Amino acid sequence: MNSFEIRELIEFDLDKVMEIEDLCFVAPWKKEDILRELHNNQFATLLVATINSEVVGYVDYWITFDSATICQIAIHPNYQRKAIGSALLEEVIKDCYAKKVFNITLEVRESNLKGINFYSKHGFNQLVVKPNYYSNGENAIYMMRGVELNG
Ligand SMILES: CC(C)(COP(=O)(O)OP(=O)(O)OC[C@H]1O[C@@H](n2cnc3c(N)ncnc32)[C@H](O)[C@@H]1OP(=O)(O)O)[C@@H](O)C(=O)NCCC(=O)NCCS
Repeated sequence: MNSFEIRELIEFDLDKVMEIEDLCFVAPWKKEDILRELHNNQFATLLVATINSEVVGYVDYWITFDSATICQIAIHPNYQRKAIGSALLEEVIKDCYAKKVFNITLEVRESNLKGINFYSKHGFNQLVVKPNYYSNGENAIYMMRGVELNG
């Protein structure tokens, strides 16, 4: 596989990001949701991973004072299991470390074993189940890790 690069998401990337979103999520975000994150949310950072300039994945995370939240991370199905998601998440962790963030939290669907495995591999612990968290009534697993590198 060609090597990938990571950079900040720009509005030009949106069509490709929406395609990935639709392929990856039960309840995908709309374009307006991402635009709001990009332009109107001072806490949000959005990064994309590209291969030969093509967007193959992205992450959206918030840093609010000493805590961070992963809101969305997705890799195009044709490029999954090639460590691109891990590279995006490591970039988030590095940024959090540089900004002296204390911990990173997230919610993931209880049925998303791939996602839970992914986060567990990166040191996130399952803290609690949030019942009926999603609009279809599905529970969320609330996960957290400290920000120490290699943690
Ligand atoms: C979760 C996701 C972002 C992982 O990205 P990725 O680039 O495919 O993951 P990586 O190649 O970096 O994998 C890292 C680890 O995650 C776990 N993992 C990834 N894909 C997996 C799968 N299909 N089954 C089980 N575990 C998996 C493994 O522990 C893997 O390590 P390994 O390959 O050494 O076994 C990607 O599968 C995805 O976009 N899924 C759909 C969207 C989603 O569920 N996002 C997370 C919730 S917001």
